[in-house]
Amino acid sequence: MAYKAIPLLLLHLLQILGIQAKVSSIIVFGDSSVDSGNNNHISTILKSNFEPYGRDFFGSKPTGRFSNGRIPTDFISEAFGLQPIIPAYLDPVYNISDFTSGVCFASAGTGRLTSRDLTLITQLYLQSVIPLWKELEYYKEYQKQLQDFLGDEEANNVLSEALYLISIGTNDFLENYYIVPGRSSDYTVEEYQNFLAGIARDFVTGLYQLGARKISLTGLPPMGCLPLERTTNLIFGSDCIEEYNNVAQDFNEKLKGLVEKLNKELALIHLVFSNPYDILLQIIQNPHFFGFDKAAIACCATGLFEMGYMCDKFNPFTCTDANKYVFWDSFHPTEKTNGIVADYTIKNSLGVFL
Ligand SMILES: *[C@@H]1O[C@H](CO)[C@@H](O)[C@H](O)[C@H]1NC(C)=O
Repeated sequence: MAYKAIPLLLLHLLQILGIQAKVSSIIVFGDSSVDSGNNNHISTILKSNFEPYGRDFFGSKPTGRFSNGRIPTDFISEAFGLQPIIPAYLDPVYNISDFTSGVCFASAGTGRLTSRDLTLITQLYLQSVIPLWKELEYYKEYQKQLQDFLGDEEANNVLSEALYLISIGTNDFLENYYIVPGRSSDYTVEEYQNFLAGIARDFVTGLYQLGARKISLTGLPPMGCLPLERTTNLIFGSDCIEEYNNVAQDFNEKLKGLVEKLNKELALIHLVFSNPYDILLQIIQNPHFFGFDKAAIACCATGLFEMGYMCDKFNPFTCTDANKYVFWDSFHPTEKTNGIVADYTIKNSLGVFL
């Protein structure tokens, strides 16, 4: 039996019955997993606005999405009866009239800093907090623009009935905790998890204070199974790295607890935890069931370690059919995987907002 997308059928049925989606707009914050192109317009080396990124996107266009096609948030928007793609706030081809039913503030840049002179705390603060708060600053600017464009009343309706999706964390662990020298010896994993959970809590609270009510906090994927990590695990036959997966699961438990706590503390908030961990692990462990051939290596280039500029159109090794691969580059899933994860998320958490 093959995997089937049920929620879309359900949705079409709702649409035929004339039942309106209750969500006015989808507003996205986070990292490269949900960036729809903001990274193109800030100074960062982490870009994907060139071929073969986007080769299966509408018009085969590279947009800055880290995939061959759409990312989960695009599918979620479509499933809610809104636009099939969520435009990036910093992309100059769009203006406020394009952002009335969805906008993305996420950025793949996440401001990685290399200065060794800063104290660890300052580094953590700058790397993890500023980019997210910067996203909130953009959001405030956007609120004003929307009020000017639609008038206060309509704009405020859109903003309070919007669904806010937040996806952060993988980069923080894999690039900041495990790779930056010294970090993992100065902080225990537990302390670092608590630190990041604190950032998530502050971020959700900040959004809530700005008027957001329907919010989804996304959990971490099985990070130890990203092709990049498996490649470094040669001694164990390129298996998933258990330790990273355990960290992701522990962190997800913390996020789940945080979601329960904030739902009690903040009046009228409706916060859900969207956890992609289980579905991604199922796909990675049973790729054939979902119609894939390869899960351990990615489609782009050799599939072992490339992403961003190393995954370019001149690389002769890039696969021809990305639908056979779970991962597009060594860090990010293919469009097909993104669609399955979005379906799963709608069924298991976001469906309450339909
Ligand atoms: C947005 O862009 C469109 C097309 O480029 C243009 O027609 C429209 O006037 C712009 N709207 C605003 C509010 O700037």
